[in-house]
Parts: sequence; structure tokens; C-alpha cells
Amino acid sequence: MAAIDSVAPQAALAGRLLEDGAGLIAQEDALSLVRLLWLASTATTERTIGHCLLRLVEDSGLLRRLAAEPTLVPAFVEEVLRLTPPENLIQRRAVADASIDGRAVRAGDLVQICLPAANRDPAHYDVPDELRLDRAAAANLSFGSGIHQCVGGPMTRRVVAAAVAAFVQRFGDLAPLRLAGEVKWVHAMVVCAPREFRIAR
Ligand code: HEM
Repeated sequence: MAAIDSVAPQAALAGRLLEDGAGLIAQEDALSLVRLLWLASTATTERTIGHCLLRLVEDSGLLRRLAAEPTLVPAFVEEVLRLTPPENLIQRRAVADASIDGRAVRAGDLVQICLPAANRDPAHYDVPDELRLDRAAAANLSFGSGIHQCVGGPMTRRVVAAAVAAFVQRFGDLAPLRLAGEVKWVHAMVVCAPREFRIAR
């Protein structure tokens, strides 16, 4: 938090929040928003780029296909987001007794929605485990849903697509890439993402 606060004044957003919200938003609230946006945006985007690049290194056919048809990059990013979202769980506290698909939920219970599972619902996706570039855009839940749906979704999709497009352009020629050594993972209940991997030809 201290590190984020120390660079916050350099972020255009913090200045805008304080300027436009003068008299409405206290400095502490503006800082708190910068912290929230920073924490919500950096690791999620980084992990998604990691997942995308790992897929492309492991599947040279897919890499060549995207190099030949760069307009498919957004569909590829969407499928990677669907199959391997950077956050696995959305959590809610039940405010009233309810029933979900026949299971009783009591007021106060913690309900955890497992996004990689929800995004593989066979009622919504044919061959759900397969990465397909021709899926009709059935919405996935990787950015959540409803009032708390991710505000960064449209921007981050473009950022990831730009990173993938640059990678594909640089490495999408015929010499296949390979992993040089083991992939190191961040492996926890809430996150499963590549932390570090090295690439060679
Ligand atoms: C691949 C990248 C990202 C993914 C998968 C992602 C995912 C999510 C999810 C699932 C939620 C909903 C959490 C809930 O309902 O409890 C959420 C909320 C949020 N996200 Fe993202 N996010 C990403 C990138 C970003 C970026 C780039 C920003 C900011 C620029 C951002 C800002 C936020 C904020 C502020 C919320 C809270 C919204 C609210 O509670 O009203 N996220 N995100």
C-alpha cells in the first residue's frame, strides 16, 4: 500500500479524481480508489497475458494461425479468459435464506462461485474444455456479473489483445517456440496462473 501511495500522485487518474471531485472526494478517498484500481488491474492483466503466451508456446499451430489471421486475437483472448480466468472465485455473503439448484443457503453463509467451472458449463459451451476461436460470443463470467461487474473489462481485453498481437507478430513465424525448463505457477485456491516461464527456439 505504501508503494502504491508513493506513486499515486504521478497517476493521471489520481489527479483527475482530486481535481474533478474537488469538494466531493476527499484526498483519502481518491487514494483509496487508486489503490483499488491498481490492485484490481495489474495482477489480473499480467496473469491473463501469461496464460495467453503459455498457450501459444505450447501450441505452435495456434501461434501460426493467429499470425496468419490477427483478427482472431480477441477471440483467442476471450477463450483464454473463459478457460483460465486470473481470479478463480467470486465470493458473496448470503443476506437471506435461499436455495440454489436445490441446495439450501442460509443467511450469513459464504457462497463462492468457481469461475473456471461456471465458464465450462456444458449447457452453454460445446466441448467446454476446448479452446475454440469460432465460439459464438456466449458471455463468460470471468469479469463477474451484475452491479459489481468489472469496470476494467473492456480496457483490459484491449491491453491483453495488444500484448498478444505484438508477441504473435514477433514470434509467429515458422520456427516453433518451446519452453526452456519448468513453468513456475502461482497455485492457490483463488489463483492458478503461470508466475514464470522461459521460452527458447
Ligand atoms: C483480465 C483482467 C481482469 C479480470 C479477469 C477482472 C475480474 C474482475 C471480477 C471477476 C470482478 C468482480 C468481483 C466481484 O463481483 O466480487 C472485478 C471487479 C472489479 N474490477 Fe476487474 N478484472 C480485471 C481487470 C481489471 C482492470 C484492468 C481494472 C481497472 C482498470 C479492474 C477494476 C475492477 C474494479 C474497480 C472492480 C470492482 C467493481 C465493483 O465492485 O463495483 N479490473 N474484476
